[in-house]
Amino acid sequence: MAFAYRRLRKASQRKRTVLTENRATGIFVGLRRRPPLGVMLAGLLFLAGASSIGPSGCEPIRGSYLGTEVCLACHDGRVASDHTSFRASMHNTVECEECHGPGLQHVHDGGPNGLYIDVPPTTFTGLSDFCAKCHAPEAADYAKGAHAESNVTCLDCHDVHAAGEVRTSAKNNRLCLQCHKREFNSTEAIADHTWHSVDPAGIGTSRCTTCHMPPTQRIDQNLGQHRHSLIPLAPITSNDAAQAGVTPVPPNSCSGIVGCHDGPNIYLPHFDVDNPIHNTLLQAIFEYRYPQAGGL
Ligand code: HEC
Ligand code: HEC
Ligand code: HEC
Ligand code: HEC
Ligand code: HEC
Ligand code: HEC
Repeated sequence: MAFAYRRLRKASQRKRTVLTENRATGIFVGLRRRPPLGVMLAGLLFLAGASSIGPSGCEPIRGSYLGTEVCLACHDGRVASDHTSFRASMHNTVECEECHGPGLQHVHDGGPNGLYIDVPPTTFTGLSDFCAKCHAPEAADYAKGAHAESNVTCLDCHDVHAAGEVRTSAKNNRLCLQCHKREFNSTEAIADHTWHSVDPAGIGTSRCTTCHMPPTQRIDQNLGQHRHSLIPLAPITSNDAAQAGVTPVPPNSCSGIVGCHDGPNIYLPHFDVDNPIHNTLLQAIFEYRYPQAGGL
């Protein structure tokens, strides 16, 4: 070991490289040049925490993925764009490099200039395809709707680097109304459209997403998939699915949703999504209120 160290040290003096010891392996590695502060910091973080994953901002030892902690050493608002809220995001389990590719060269040679790292495409189709790799149902459903036709992208509503599902709350309708405020410019206009009193953030009446993005399976509204085509689910679709043998009977935009006309928080009148007669009755009301959606 001593010999190896001396030989490397000579070479390093010649090439003006910096020597670093990888504590995990006990091997000295020559860096081509002194790394920027961020890399050193990243390296330190790594040495402190990691015993099995290799590089400490040095030459690759095993693979070229560094892990999210290394990225956040710089991307915390002090050097690069602030992603401190990333830790609270569900994408934290995915890690930066699953979306941005291996980061070794970026951290090693390109960090300060933002070089050598992938940024997923932000063009409309490029982005949908990218998200579809992990969220195929949402992307496929979304492609059928008016938002896709108008090039509203996933990122108009979602920020993959931050906590929370959406950029701004959908519960108080703000998310939708930031773009749809012209048609729905008053409480009356919203009530006319929804046939319900307007209390989206409270008991949830006239909340855009309950009708336009209902859950597609009958589980807790906060879990599972939500409709992304934004086309409301007519009550008759529950009967159609029941006839096709789907169990439990899937919800529709009016019932079978926790908090609406079926489920633990029942608002009267109560319609039972498992009862085909109830769904047929609801369908008639739906078609009367929304003739343009009839025959879905
Ligand atoms: C040595 C500090 C440092 C580290 C460590 C670091 N970055 Fe960066 N990164 C930067 C700087 C500085 C920029 C350029 C300024 C900016 O875009 O905010 C940048 C830019 C980027 C960009 C935008 C590139 C572009 O073309 O716009 C991405 C994506 C990125 N980094 C991802 C990562 C990932 C993933 C990691 C972890 C593997 C990481 N960074 C680690 C400093 C760092
Ligand atoms: C789920 C995929 C995904 C993950 C995980 C992810 N990113 Fe991104 N990142 C994207 C996408 C998509 C874009 C381009 C659109 C945008 O700016 O949001 C992007 C853009 C960026 C940019 C350039 C634009 C900006 O925000 O300044 C940086 C820097 C960046 N990411 C860093 C990171 C870092 C650091 C992490 C981990 C802490 C990370 N990303 C995790 C998907 C991801
Ligand atoms: C590499 C896989 C991967 C990619 C690519 C990806 N995601 Fe995710 N995403 C996940 C995982 C894993 C979760 C955690 C929840 C789960 O298991 O579904 C998640 C959760 C989410 C959530 C809900 C959770 C929350 O509150 O944060 C949204 C919204 C989301 N992703 C949007 C997107 C969008 C938009 C894109 C494209 C820009 C994208 N994702 C790309 C893997 C990915
Ligand atoms: C980034 C802007 C933006 C956001 C945010 C947005 N929309 Fe849209 N929406 C549009 C555009 C643009 C169209 C297509 C043109 C039009 O019909 O106004 C559209 C169309 C629609 C349509 C179909 C209209 C039709 O003619 O078939 C519905 C339904 C809809 N949006 C509901 C919503 C709901 C619900 C939300 C909140 C979850 C929402 N939108 C958020 C921009 C947006
Ligand atoms: C009580 C259920 C319900 C609520 C709540 C609701 N919508 Fe709708 N909305 C519908 C139905 C049903 C249609 C007709 C769908 C079709 O044509 O396929 C519709 C149609 C639309 C359209 C298409 C244009 C039109 O008027 O036909 C837009 C845009 C729209 N809604 C936006 C919103 C926004 C924004 C909110 C929240 C402020 C909202 N909706 C709340 C049920 C609802
Ligand atoms: C008009 C705004 C809007 C657009 C555009 C949008 N989403 Fe969403 N998305 C939402 C809302 C609102 C929720 C939360 C639904 C809920 O919990 O009630 C959500 C939830 C999700 C979730 C969590 C699981 C689920 O289905 O509820 C994922 C994953 C997701 N979206 C991915 C995507 C992807 C991928 C795209 C683009 C192909 C996209 N979204 C486009 C508004 C949007």
